[in-house]
Amino acid sequence: MKAGGDMKIAGKAVCVFVLFTIKVMSTVGNLEVSAVVGSTSVLTCTPRPNTTMIIWKMSPKVGGPCTLGYRADHNKTDRTNCSDSINWRSRPDQDPALEIRQVGIAHEGNYTCEVVATEGNFHEMYHLTVLVPPRLTVRCDDDDGRPVCEAGAGRPAAQIWWVPESNSPPREEAHDNGTVTVLSKFAAYSTNVTNATCFMSHPVWNQSMDVGCPPPENTNLTRLYVSIILCFLSIIPFVAVMYYFKLHIDRLCHKTKTPETAPTDSPQEDTMEVEPYTIYVQKENVIYNSVSDLTAGQNLPQGLSPAT
Ligand SMILES: *[C@@H]1O[C@H](CO)[C@@H](O)[C@H](O)[C@H]1NC(C)=O
Ligand SMILES: *[C@@H]1O[C@H](CO)[C@@H](O)[C@H](O)[C@H]1NC(C)=O
Ligand SMILES: *[C@@H]1O[C@H](CO)[C@@H](O)[C@H](O)[C@H]1NC(C)=O
Ligand SMILES: *[C@@H]1O[C@H](CO)[C@@H](O)[C@H](O)[C@H]1NC(C)=O
Ligand SMILES: *[C@@H]1O[C@H](CO)[C@@H](O)[C@H](O)[C@H]1NC(C)=O
Ligand SMILES: *[C@@H]1O[C@H](CO)[C@@H](O)[C@H](O)[C@H]1NC(C)=O
Ligand SMILES: *[C@@H]1O[C@H](CO)[C@@H](O)[C@H](O)[C@H]1NC(C)=O
Ligand SMILES: *[C@@H]1O[C@H](CO)[C@@H](O)[C@H](O)[C@H]1NC(C)=O
Repeated sequence: MKAGGDMKIAGKAVCVFVLFTIKVMSTVGNLEVSAVVGSTSVLTCTPRPNTTMIIWKMSPKVGGPCTLGYRADHNKTDRTNCSDSINWRSRPDQDPALEIRQVGIAHEGNYTCEVVATEGNFHEMYHLTVLVPPRLTVRCDDDDGRPVCEAGAGRPAAQIWWVPESNSPPREEAHDNGTVTVLSKFAAYSTNVTNATCFMSHPVWNQSMDVGCPPPENTNLTRLYVSIILCFLSIIPFVAVMYYFKLHIDRLCHKTKTPETAPTDSPQEDTMEVEPYTIYVQKENVIYNSVSDLTAGQNLPQGLSPAT
């Protein structure tokens, strides 16, 4: 009997506990919601009768946790660490929905609405994903002239494919702000296929763009011409410089030739100072010689004979 009574009490306790947990753990699963950057997003929260409290808890990726609260008994709201862009959609006593204006990538994260009512506690959870529409651009590659398709700064990364089919894998480049640029080069490129269509798929929009590039031979020819012209243009200044240096070196050689002989002629540098004197002496000698020539007249063999 005693044991049975204990069992009864235990059963009641379990029952109460189960009821209690059912009452508390009314959680709506994690709902995936997405919003385009710059738009306004509304997260709803089911109104309950006899609500005593509503709390919105957010954990955005940037800025730390933030809460918005409403207490029915005091008819008062409060906010902790929430940016101005996050607020009640209208009056919380009428509608517990949350509104995010000017959605940014930083708003991405978990949002939970918690309603405390006489019926129990209710949780509604959301996971907000922010979408950034990519910019689709097409061009002809600078290097090989092939069509290139770019889905710039999108979130999530866009899917790109070509018609006609091209097996070149797209290249992805992640930016610091969480966006991704996808770049694809048209690989099946030949003289016959100069036109291609790039298709882009993204949660925000699907898009396609035609791109026609000049055939590869043409681009190769123009590249050849351009490189020949560039070659000539770069040779001209080179030749000019060479010619200038040649002139300069020739002149330098002429200049350096005279000083080259000077030191050999006069090993003693002290004589440089008396050079004018020597010139004068030489002149004197010349005059003397000419005078002697004049005076000697035809006696040159006689003048030479003493010298030898
Ligand atoms: C709400 O409260 C009123 C009185 O305050 C009560 O009569 C009513 O039954 C309650 N409703 C629920 C669903 O609890
Ligand atoms: C709560 O307060 C607002 C003003 O802050 C008022 O307009 C509203 O009527 C009040 N609601 C209740 C139920 O008292
Ligand atoms: C609010 O933010 C500050 C810093 O920005 C932080 O220290 C504080 O813990 C935050 N409060 C809550 C309730 O998250
Ligand atoms: C959001 O919730 C999910 C599960 O509900 C969890 O895995 C994830 O880490 C949460 N994210 C943040 C930023 O808290
Ligand atoms: C993200 O960064 C890229 C490259 O820096 C820029 O082009 C793009 O506009 C940015 N997007 C957003 C939403 O900030
Ligand atoms: C492509 O061009 C070549 C000649 O340049 C030709 O033989 C071939 O049949 C063409 N292919 C198609 C699919 O037009
Ligand atoms: C390329 O596109 C132009 C117009 O966009 C079209 O006239 C031409 O026939 C196309 N060429 C090929 C090979 O598809
Ligand atoms: C883009 O196209 C795919 C099928 O190719 C489709 O499932 C998706 O709904 C489209 N998205 C938009 C935003 O139009």
